[in-house]
Amino acid sequence: MKKSICLALCLLFINNLFAQKISSPDSCLELNFKLNTSGEPIYNLSYKDQVIIKDSGMGFLINSPDPFNQAFTITNITDLSFDQTWEPVWGENAQIRNQYNEMLVSLTQANTDRQLDIRFRLFDDGLGFRYEFPIQKNLRHFIIKEELTQFNMVADSKAFWIPADYDTNEFPITTSKLSEIASLIDGVRQEPLAAKAPSSTLAVQTPLMLKTNDGIYINIHEAALINYPAMFLNVGADLPSLDSHLAPDKNGNRGYIQTGSVTPWRTVVLSDDARDILSSNLILNLNTPSEIEDTSWIKPMKYVGVWWEYFTGGGSTWAYTDYQDIKLGQTDYSSLTPNGRHGANTQHVKDYIDFASEHGFNAVLVEGWNEGWEDNTAYVKEQIYSFTQAYPDFDVKELQEYAESKGVKLMMHHETTSSVVDYERQLHDAFEFMVDNGYDAVKTGYVGPITPRSEFHDGQWMVNHYNYVAKTAADYKIMINSHEAVRPTGLSRTYPNWLAQESARGTEFESFNGNNPDHTTILPFTRLMGGPMDYTPGIFQGDLSVYGPNKAKLSTTLVKQLALYVTMYSPLQMAADLKENYERFPDAFQFIKDVAVDWDNSYILEAEPGDYITIARKAKGKNEWYIGSITDENPREAVLDLSFLPVGKKYEATIYSDGKDAHWISNPQSYVVSKKRVSSKTKLKLQLVPSGGVAVSIKEL
Ligand code: NOJ
Ligand code: CA
Repeated sequence: MKKSICLALCLLFINNLFAQKISSPDSCLELNFKLNTSGEPIYNLSYKDQVIIKDSGMGFLINSPDPFNQAFTITNITDLSFDQTWEPVWGENAQIRNQYNEMLVSLTQANTDRQLDIRFRLFDDGLGFRYEFPIQKNLRHFIIKEELTQFNMVADSKAFWIPADYDTNEFPITTSKLSEIASLIDGVRQEPLAAKAPSSTLAVQTPLMLKTNDGIYINIHEAALINYPAMFLNVGADLPSLDSHLAPDKNGNRGYIQTGSVTPWRTVVLSDDARDILSSNLILNLNTPSEIEDTSWIKPMKYVGVWWEYFTGGGSTWAYTDYQDIKLGQTDYSSLTPNGRHGANTQHVKDYIDFASEHGFNAVLVEGWNEGWEDNTAYVKEQIYSFTQAYPDFDVKELQEYAESKGVKLMMHHETTSSVVDYERQLHDAFEFMVDNGYDAVKTGYVGPITPRSEFHDGQWMVNHYNYVAKTAADYKIMINSHEAVRPTGLSRTYPNWLAQESARGTEFESFNGNNPDHTTILPFTRLMGGPMDYTPGIFQGDLSVYGPNKAKLSTTLVKQLALYVTMYSPLQMAADLKENYERFPDAFQFIKDVAVDWDNSYILEAEPGDYITIARKAKGKNEWYIGSITDENPREAVLDLSFLPVGKKYEATIYSDGKDAHWISNPQSYVVSKKRVSSKTKLKLQLVPSGGVAVSIKEL
């Protein structure tokens, strides 16, 4: 035998005997990989010499009697170091450093000769790993019955969680020990405003936020969810091990795989400082660069809309006529009597265009413009939406011309009520209609069960649908804001036209008394880890009893609504309230008018999940900074250290604070606006009332 071959074989033998390790660039994290005595792939992770994830299994059960998680030998190991800085089209920072050490482990299964690769990337802020299925003779395609990835935690931890549900993420967030989830989960599922699709699974959704007893913050999620189902985490008998659990399809299969492909990345972001979780770019870094070459048409934006009036109980309807007046398959709306409460009528939309133009908003969302809404409240789907046919009182051409003359865009709305096959059938016509009529952004919606395939919102088939819509929209230079889609995984790096998603409880739940005061102190640590949320803040009139039968009250003060424009990062921000309410509070409204939606830098000043968040951001290309600070049901003093300001210059800060007598329950509209000279040496100490906030804008003098 040649010397070199002998050496290679010796190395392989050694590879199989000992753990393979890589460290993060700053050496704080260490990842170990090995095969156990059954040839099962095993990894563990430590941070500052403390084990964070104990030995955890990897692999798959597939449609073959030989499981795809044992009898492996290591056939190759490749290490790599990477360090590059890139510029997102929009974001919390104008530049993002992508620095990691990588290990690619190639495995072969002795009994079947099947190959599986596992790629690990270790960053200073955490770990990403994914499975890769190389093209190979003995495995062309297969069905995943279950992914066997484990996250074997060291001990019980505090967890911020929502229950697993393959169709929705719109749950209140519960804070408890991991070990308490089993006894609490059914209660959360039965919460009156919770999801519609109960599931008996003892599992939670990701991003899952954990805090160990030693004060280590750990976030588990995934990156680049493409052609694969979403991952949930079992919190059953195996605790504290969290075991992956993929959303199934309607036949109970988890994924249909063709070799020559990869899985999404499994991500673990961690630090002993909660602020580092919020400043992590690990998930974006694990996604691939933009597939859209010319991104000049993609613009972060602020918008208003014919929207909140549907939730206040004030009488507006999406539908043009009353439900009982419409016949199944109705095609001629012009012969029907309007119900007199249709929100999307030409004059009303013009009023919003005027308002947007006067106050500097980029766009006006109009929901209820198109045929098919008559049974929306029931979502029974007898009527399927048209995405090219407007109701008789919504004049597409006239509004297009009017909006253009006022320098404002109209934002399209495609509620599908999950008639997804029908949506795909209409998709090109719908996008052509948008282009022809001057629309460049669409809010999509997937309320209710997926018809006619009865797939789940989070299964592989639907994941492919959302990605197909984002990709196709890019061909038409259309930006997307999807509601009720699978939660994001950083794909906006690849498709920057996918500006935002909902995929959690947004402001709409405030209209059913559905959000807790700590909700928005947790969302940035959970749902927002995957990407921006169309949370739709800015409700000034929080007591909805003024409109009619709705007795709901917002769970925040008015000033906390302002602060959310900074703490809930999104390149797409709505001023969600009725225009009349902004006209009543013009000085507070000024903050929403001023605040930026795209940033050069972000500074996480204070953060504790479930308690408080304070963030400062520098507006892109401007010498302007905006700060938002929020608290849960407890009052607190926020300390705003302005040392991020360039040294030696004078600035004027406009401070929007809760009034001394403000309280989210009894007096949410009490606020004070004041001005103050500040510099990089200033430390502002500001008082936040229960579920209150503070918002600050800073301009150079
Ligand atoms: C639910 C969405 O989240 C909401 O914003 C929208 O108004 C309704 N569906 C109707 O499409
Ligand atoms: Ca929703």
